[in-house]
Amino acid sequence: MNEDNFIQIKNLKMVYENGYQAISDISFTVKKGELVCLLGPSGCGKTTTLNMVAGLLNPTGGDILVDGKSVLNVAPKDRNIGYVFQNYALYPHMTVLQNVMFPMTVGKNKKSKEEAKQIAERFMRLTHIEEYANQKPGKLSGGQQQRVSIARALVQQPKILLMDEPLSNLDARLRLKIREEIRALVKKVGITTLFVTHDQEEALSIGDKIILFNEGVIQQDAASYEIYLNPANQFVANFIGNPVVDNFNVEVSDGKVIGDGFEIPISAFDSDRFKKNLTDGVYTLSLRPENVFPVDNQADGFFTCKIDDIELIGRERILKFTINGLGQRSLVKVEANVEPSDEVCFGLNLDRAFIFDNNGERIY
Ligand SMILES: Nc1ncnc2c1ncn2[C@@H]1O[C@H](COP(=O)(O)OP(=O)(O)OP(=O)(O)O)[C@@H](O)[C@H]1O
Ligand SMILES: [Mg+2]
Repeated sequence: MNEDNFIQIKNLKMVYENGYQAISDISFTVKKGELVCLLGPSGCGKTTTLNMVAGLLNPTGGDILVDGKSVLNVAPKDRNIGYVFQNYALYPHMTVLQNVMFPMTVGKNKKSKEEAKQIAERFMRLTHIEEYANQKPGKLSGGQQQRVSIARALVQQPKILLMDEPLSNLDARLRLKIREEIRALVKKVGITTLFVTHDQEEALSIGDKIILFNEGVIQQDAASYEIYLNPANQFVANFIGNPVVDNFNVEVSDGKVIGDGFEIPISAFDSDRFKKNLTDGVYTLSLRPENVFPVDNQADGFFTCKIDDIELIGRERILKFTINGLGQRSLVKVEANVEPSDEVCFGLNLDRAFIFDNNGERIY
């Protein structure tokens, strides 16, 4: 078996009956035991992709291989896949224990009642729901119900676990807690997992790698830190990170990158990081907020401007400003003691900056 290519998605396409092309032509691989996040805005094709892997939807092109073999002609129930849905989909008239046991009481892998109960109890312990065994799901909180549906998806000990926005009905604090639990659980069980979310922060924290979609096309397929530090294009840079990336409209001419209220000689950029020649024209200079920072000495800065507003987040301050009072508002995360309406001189960490052309293609 090839552990690095456990799941292979090859030139997969999905055109719905009404002619809408939801997935254009995507290819990616998932290693055995890997936890991969499918990330992207609403409507980008995440659920469509999961449904094709599960066999609930037949692709209109391409192939899906598991363990080296095409699964396109394998019925969903024989694909050995566990699926956790956003809305839990539990049976309301059954107890928690009966819900978790259910997959083991039907079909060709039916187990004896005693064995099914033992396995169910093991997974209920792993997901911390054993104390609710005899309650009906309707009496449980959202987080508890989602744990039940995770336990139910795992009892068959499937080869692959699919989770479609499993945390989106939970409050913020519980989401943090359960996403840690899910990561610990899938690593402990060692199951290969595709986890869908539209929340970039969730994806950065839970995934071994992220596959970022937009409009049915993969924008980038990379580890979390790579996708954050080295975005493939403007869409990726804008989608990943909180606070969002600061984008400055700039014009390149005369060996300078000229923005509204600042000028940077091209020589200040790291020449090794140019992916292409920076020809004269109009571009976007993008910096993550931590790479724009207040400096004491004007000589170390690139521009000075007035702070419009300050947001306190714990011990960090988010400074909000617009250079020359025009253009897009920028955000900077600092711990320094700055007051609203202060004039602040800002330095830029150009080694961590990005430059994109008008098509969103990365130049630097
Ligand atoms: N049965 C269908 N017929 C036609 N178009 C569909 C069908 N199902 C989904 N679509 C369209 O395909 C696109 C992708 O849908 P999909 O459900 O995969 O998106 P998603 O990334 O899961 O979005 P969300 O984050 O909102 O769940 C959307 O534009 C959607 O409207
Ligand atoms: Mg969806």
